[in-house]
Amino acid sequence: MKLIEGDRLPTLTSNRLELRWLEQCNALSLFDIYSNPEAMRYWCTTPWANPSEGTECIASIHRCFSAQSLFEWGVFKTDDEKLIGTCTLAQIDADHRRAEIGFMLRPDCWGHGYMTDALAALLEFSFKLLRLHRIEADVDPRNDASIRLLERLGFQREGYVRERWLVGEEINDGILYGLLCHEYSPATP
Ligand SMILES: CC(C)(COP(=O)(O)OP(=O)(O)OC[C@H]1O[C@@H](n2cnc3c(N)ncnc32)[C@H](O)[C@@H]1OP(=O)(O)O)[C@@H](O)C(=O)NCCC(=O)NCCS
Repeated sequence: MKLIEGDRLPTLTSNRLELRWLEQCNALSLFDIYSNPEAMRYWCTTPWANPSEGTECIASIHRCFSAQSLFEWGVFKTDDEKLIGTCTLAQIDADHRRAEIGFMLRPDCWGHGYMTDALAALLEFSFKLLRLHRIEADVDPRNDASIRLLERLGFQREGYVRERWLVGEEINDGILYGLLCHEYSPATP
C-alpha cells in the first residue's frame, strides 16, 4: 500500500518554515550540516567527510521515497529560503501504521524553536493525512536538546536500550520514545 501518491513529497508549512522535497542543488548545504561535528555529536554515524556524501544522500532519499521506506524533507526558512535542517520518517511500516522520526538542524539555528515548529507540522501530517498510528524515536541518553524536544511534543519514554549503536570508536545506548495518534494534541508544543 502506498502512503504517498505522486512523484515527490508534499510541502508542509509552519509560520516560519517549509518542509520541502530535497533536490540535488541542496547537496552542498546538506553536506555543510552533516559534516559539522557539533550537529553530529549524538547521531548514528560519524560526521560526513566528503562532499559527495550530500549527492549520494539525496539520491538515496529519492530512491527510498520511490520504495516508500523513508520520507525525508529539507527544512527551509521561509524568510531567506535557506536550508537549515532535515526531518525524516524512517522505518516506515504501512501495515502497522508506524514510523521512526529523525531530525537535524544546523547548530547556528538551535535555540529558536525551529524544530518544535517543524516537527509539529510533520506530526500533524503523519497522524492526520498519512494516518499513522504510532511514531517512535531513538535518542542518545546524553542528547538533552532532543529529549526536551520530544517530551515537549508529547513523546513518552518507553525503554532504555543498552549499547545499541556503534559509531566510530564509541558504543552508545539509546532511549526509545513513542507517541500514539490518540495521545497527540497539536497544542502540545
Ligand atoms: C535536537 C535539535 C533538533 C533541537 O533543535 P531546536 O530548534 O534548537 O529545538 P527546539 O525547537 O526544541 O528549540 C530549542 C529551544 O528554543 C526555545 N525557543 C525559542 N523560541 C521558541 C519558539 N518560538 N517556539 C518554541 N521554542 C522556542 C525553546 O524554549 C527551546 O528551549 P529548551 O530546549 O531549553 O527548552 C537540535 O539540537 C539538533 O539538530 N541537534 C543535532 C541533531 C540531533 O541530535 N538529532 C536528534 C537525533 S535523535
